[in-house]
Amino acid sequence: MIGKELDLAFEDMNNLKLSAVLHDIGKIGIEDNILKKKAPLTADEFLVMKEHPRLGYEILGHIESLSEVVDGMRFHHERPDGKGYPFGLKGDEIPVIAMIISVADTFDAMISNRPYRKGLPPMIAWQEILDNRGTQFSEKVVDAFDRAFKKTKMYRPEKMEKIKKAG
Ligand SMILES: [Fe+2]
Repeated sequence: MIGKELDLAFEDMNNLKLSAVLHDIGKIGIEDNILKKKAPLTADEFLVMKEHPRLGYEILGHIESLSEVVDGMRFHHERPDGKGYPFGLKGDEIPVIAMIISVADTFDAMISNRPYRKGLPPMIAWQEILDNRGTQFSEKVVDAFDRAFKKTKMYRPEKMEKIKKAG
């Protein structure tokens, strides 16, 4: 939906779809006691986990015909403010496909249940994405996400105050 809102060309849409499916493939190189841990990661474990885009590049990087797909995967944890990982790229250095996956992946992670916490209501996750526009996420991608989100049944502005009060 974000790709459509950004009017991506047919080929870019296909690259986005494939890259979105493959974006965490590097996690197969992360040991199970970290990957499947049913509690938040320690700082050291998180350092290991942060290697997954690099490991994904080791798996797919040699396939030249997939270079756009590979870049979407490789840079999906980068941030426009340079505080992302593993490379610390900034702003326009990060391909738009990677920035789309970043927003979609973060939204999905926030609304999903984990063994150690319940997923957030979609409206709260939506607000969180908007609050990090231009720092964690690309401005134009957040704007596209916002437009797409408002076309879904998850957009319930009347619920917002209630949710906030309930904490
Ligand atoms: Fe990831």
